[in-house]
Amino acid sequence: MAFPTCRCDSTDEELVTVSIWAPGRVNLIGDHTDYADGLVLPMAIDLGVRIDGVRCGETVELASDNGETASISIHIEDPSTAAPGMAQYVAGVIAEVRPDVGFTGTMTSTLPVGSGLSSSSALEVGLALALGFSGTAVELAQLTQRAEQIATGVPCGIMDQLTIAAGIEGRALLIDCATLDIEPTALPEGATILVVHSGEQRKLVGSAYAERRNQVESAMAAIGPLRDRPASDAEQLDDPATVKRARHVISENARVRQFAEALARADLDDAGRLMVESHHSLRDDFEVSTPGLDALVADLLAQQGVYGARLTGAGFGGCVVALTDPGVDLGGWQVHPSAGAAAISN
Ligand code: GLA
Repeated sequence: MAFPTCRCDSTDEELVTVSIWAPGRVNLIGDHTDYADGLVLPMAIDLGVRIDGVRCGETVELASDNGETASISIHIEDPSTAAPGMAQYVAGVIAEVRPDVGFTGTMTSTLPVGSGLSSSSALEVGLALALGFSGTAVELAQLTQRAEQIATGVPCGIMDQLTIAAGIEGRALLIDCATLDIEPTALPEGATILVVHSGEQRKLVGSAYAERRNQVESAMAAIGPLRDRPASDAEQLDDPATVKRARHVISENARVRQFAEALARADLDDAGRLMVESHHSLRDDFEVSTPGLDALVADLLAQQGVYGARLTGAGFGGCVVALTDPGVDLGGWQVHPSAGAAAISN
C-alpha cells in the first residue's frame, strides 16, 4: 500500500511519522469471566495490525488493506454517528484520546476479521498509540475498552484490550480482572497453540453478549461475587437461565486456576482436559457455542497430538484454540505469545 499523503499544509519537517504494531489475542481459557471480576488466561499473538502514518491536520484518515477507509474529525462530538465498521472504531478512539492533531495513515493486518482474535481491539489500541496516547498498559486498555463500547454499543470486558496492551513475548497472561494484576505464565516446552477458524463469521455477538452479561450481573446482584464460590451457590438462583450462566462463571474461574497450575507442572493432558470442559460449559451452561464450533472441536480432539480444544472469545462463530504437540497440522495458524502493542522503528 502506498504511504499516505497528508492533505494538511504542514511542511515535511514538521510532520511526525509513526509506526505501531498491535497484536491480536487468543484466549486459552477463561471466557465470559472478565466482566464478572474473574480470571482469564489469554496471550497476545504474532498476528496483528500495523499502522503507519503521519500526525497532521484535524482529521484521522485511515486506509485499511481490506479496502475500508475512515475519515473522522478530531473534533467529532458524537462518535456514535460514524458509519458502521472501521469508522466507528476510529471515532471511538478519537473520542477517548481527544488528540490535538490528526493522523493520516494506513493499516495492514494479518488477523482474520470476524474470527474472535480481537482485530477491532488491535485497531483501537494501535490507533490510540498512533494518536499519541501515553500512559500505562492498564490505562491504555481501560481507554480502548471504553472506545470499543462507544463504537459498538456492546458492553465488552477488558480482557482483549488489556492482553493487547500488556502482552509479553513468550508468555501467556493470567489476568485477575478484579485487580487487573497480570501474572506472566510460561507455556511448557513443546506446548503448541493452534488457532483454527470454524468458517462461521461471528454472528449476534452484540445482543447475545449484552444479554449474557446482564444475566451474570443479576446473578451477582442476588448472590454476590461469583469468583471463589462453590458451584452449588448458583443453584440458589430462581431463573433457570441465570443458574446456568452463574454455574459457567463459577466453574470457569476454577478451571483457569487449575489450568495455570497444570501449565506450571507441564501437565498438558490436564490442561487439555480443562480446555474441553471449558468448551462444554460454554456450550451447555453459557450457550454461546454453535454446531460448527462444536463439530470443529470434536474433529480436532480426534486428531493425534491434540490435548484440548475450545471456542475462544465471545463465541457465536469464529475460531477454536487448540493445545497440541509440535508439528500437528490442523490447517489453522500456529501462534506464539507475543509482546504488546508498541511503536516500531522500521
Ligand atoms: C469478547 C469481549 C471480552 C470477553 C470475551 C469473552 O471478546 O470483548 O471482554 O468478555 O468476549 O470472554
